Amino acid sequence: MTTEIEIKRGLQGVYIDKTQSSFIDGSAGKLLYRGYSIHDLAEKSTFEETVYLLLYEKLPNQKELNDFDALLRANRSIPPEVMQIIKLVKNAHPMDVLRTAVSALAAYDPDVADNSLEATLRKGIRMTAQAPIIVTAHARIKDGKEPLDPNPNLNQAANFLYMLFGKEPTPAEARIMEKDFILHAEHGINASAFAARVAASTISDLHSAIVSGIGTLKGPAHGGAAEEVMQMALDIGEEDNAEQYTRDILERGGRIMGFGHRVYKVEDPRAQHLQVECQTLGEQKGQPKWFRILSKVAEVMEPYASRGICPNVDFWAGSMYHLMGIPKEIFISIFAMGRIPGWTVQVMEQYSDNILLRPLLVYEGPMDVEYVPIDQRK
Ligand code: CMC
Repeated sequence: MTTEIEIKRGLQGVYIDKTQSSFIDGSAGKLLYRGYSIHDLAEKSTFEETVYLLLYEKLPNQKELNDFDALLRANRSIPPEVMQIIKLVKNAHPMDVLRTAVSALAAYDPDVADNSLEATLRKGIRMTAQAPIIVTAHARIKDGKEPLDPNPNLNQAANFLYMLFGKEPTPAEARIMEKDFILHAEHGINASAFAARVAASTISDLHSAIVSGIGTLKGPAHGGAAEEVMQMALDIGEEDNAEQYTRDILERGGRIMGFGHRVYKVEDPRAQHLQVECQTLGEQKGQPKWFRILSKVAEVMEPYASRGICPNVDFWAGSMYHLMGIPKEIFISIFAMGRIPGWTVQVMEQYSDNILLRPLLVYEGPMDVEYVPIDQRK
């Protein structure tokens, strides 16, 4: 008797478990972290507070927030051996360097083999604090500069910009960065969180899960799109070229980066916040052209909304980073730095009620082929 097998390619529309971390309604463009609207968090919360919410399942009171903030600041260091590794691999893409350095951190983490929820939380907090140290150290080393010590007076977002550029950001710039980190902090079972959960489901450790997440985030179908959107804007060069450029890509059957999403079939609710920042920052910096170029691309793409292809979080992010002077190779690393708390939460949920994530493939190759010794093969 043969039973019909239904293949769910790409696991589209498949629920693999339950979560209490984030809620996404792709048809309404709604995103909640632990029940709180992404819009409220983006506008009213801080990165530290949002990370606390994700990790501890409630908003902190002032003392809890102060203690958590102090804990993050106290964890802003990496072992000298990991700094040496960053120097050795400095010519690689920043995401490859981040992946390598996070992997190396495991060798020096006192909790590495402890998969208890308490230890996983400690490691997640440590890696959240350490990732910006890695990214900024690498950016400076690559430019022939010395890495800087963190500034204990600055929060996560401001300190990242300080360690990257060697000068304190303006409060407005620090706030834009913070908002960006909040918007990227968690997003359910996206591809990188799924990869992290698969690693965790084998009862591997958090460092392995986050390395899996970083490697998966890197691709242009996921976190890599912001870099490609900025490259597109640079290639377009002037607003007048945008319409033709976009139409040419679409006529060739290509994709416009920063558009489309597996879950959102209306505009990604994170995108509007970055759109506003991109416009405001462009005007402040006397460079409104990037916003205008992307607005023109979005205008050409408007008919695609009826097919559920709308701007996603990456569409405006790249030009915003560019206006802040951040090199485009670092854009995905910013996404990764913001997402470490989300990966941590997903791994903790996986550990809490673990089941090995192990789907099936339908085999379509030849069957029962006779093995021919090598000296008898043609
Ligand atoms: N431009 C033009 N057409 C598109 C685009 C796009 N950006 N995205 C999807 N389509 C079309 C695609 O060609 C296909 O058409 P058809 O049915 O005629 O073959 C249809 O829409 C469905 O596409 P799909 O690839 O089957 O859909 P998916 O859910 O597997 O892909 C996606 C989602 C994000 C990979 C895809 O929309 C894409 O490649 N977008 C560009 C890359 C991008 O912006 N990635 C960032 C994602 S958001 C950040 C994050 O959270 O990860």
